Amino acid sequence: MSSDWENGGFGVYIHWPFCESKCPYCDFNSFVSAKIDHARWRAAYLLEIERYAAQLSGRVVSSVFFGGGTPSLMEPETVAAVVDKIRATWACANDLEVTLEANPSSVEAGRFAAFKSAGVTRISMGIQALNNRDLQNLGRLHTVDEAYAAFDIARNVFNRVSFDLIYARQGQAPDDWRKELHEATQLAVDHLSLYQLTIEQGTAFGDRYNIGKLRGLPSDDDAAKMYDITQEVCESAGFELYEVSNHAKPGSECRHNLVYWNYGDYLGIGPGAHGRLTVLNQRLATESFLQPNAWLENAEQASGEKLREPLSSNDQATEMLLMGLRLERGISIPRWERLSGKPFGKPALNELLELGMIKISDDQLQVTERGRVLLNSVLQKLLHV
Ligand SMILES: C[S@@+](CC[C@H](N)C(=O)[O-])C[C@H]1O[C@@H](n2cnc3c(N)ncnc32)[C@H](O)[C@@H]1O
Ligand code: SF4
Repeated sequence: MSSDWENGGFGVYIHWPFCESKCPYCDFNSFVSAKIDHARWRAAYLLEIERYAAQLSGRVVSSVFFGGGTPSLMEPETVAAVVDKIRATWACANDLEVTLEANPSSVEAGRFAAFKSAGVTRISMGIQALNNRDLQNLGRLHTVDEAYAAFDIARNVFNRVSFDLIYARQGQAPDDWRKELHEATQLAVDHLSLYQLTIEQGTAFGDRYNIGKLRGLPSDDDAAKMYDITQEVCESAGFELYEVSNHAKPGSECRHNLVYWNYGDYLGIGPGAHGRLTVLNQRLATESFLQPNAWLENAEQASGEKLREPLSSNDQATEMLLMGLRLERGISIPRWERLSGKPFGKPALNELLELGMIKISDDQLQVTERGRVLLNSVLQKLLHV
């Protein structure tokens, strides 16, 4: 009997927690550090992979993702050592996808060629805005010209290059976003991640927002308009929406993120990295030590993993739904029902179908455009049946 994770594949996530500066909106696990002992970090990643090898034998890795933080600040030697170790430990898909997140301020041609030699196949670059005023407001270290230059280098070295933009920024009107996004689609290669600015508590933006000093944010109506514009502009440029914030040319979807959204298994290594692993037929949630030094010391001595918890079938079914309904293609109903051990409630399904929030075809449950705007309510309805 096959395990449920096989429906989604197996990916390895490596977290690099350092950045050149901390952006005021960002609540990712990232730190500015004056001194980084690269050799020590390299050795710790390799030790962790060795530790997991025994528990996860017989796996085929479909993707590797270096996320952060700013992994383009890693030494290419470290990236090469990690990719080599993964290849030596597990069988890998013929077309293994290896993504590395990059900031435009840390891109040099030689370094990118070295990342390619290390085994990286795909770059995801955080450009965030295409005008200097907004880049400055977002606390970014690069200018638009530097972003273009960095993107050009990436595009010349790699076939698959994505970039991120944040919209619904301070002082941004829907028409500004339309123009900017149009420009972005002209620049883009095969993939775009477009995130609506979220004000996270505990960030500099969160603090400013709480005292009423984060001025000029668009109204909810304007933010909703920007979401609609996003769909319209991307669709007409051939970048299909395949997940709430992600658009790609057909076949160029990020395979690693698909592992998460299709509820596969993923190994999370590095400070604060989370994992979902099926070991001895039990799906586990894992969590690593959050602080870089705590993770490093524990990884060197015993294990960087801080927490390991079994997930009940109900937990798994909930997670599969939360992740899967973000996808345009939705989830497989028989798979969900197998995992949860119970059928979807008919009254809830019928109500959502009648309201035009979901559609069902070929045993796939999908959220419609209308349902996507109210995704949280759709999820609640489906889960409280
Ligand atoms: C963890 S960052 C890593 C990429 C890289 N360090 C960079 O900043 O270019 C991943 C992406 O999350 C997005 N992001 C981070 N914080 C966000 C927020 N508060 N609202 C919307 N998007 C956010 C940004 O677009 C960013 O590129
Ligand atoms: S947005 Fe990227 S560069 Fe900025 S602090 Fe977060 S991870 Fe670092």
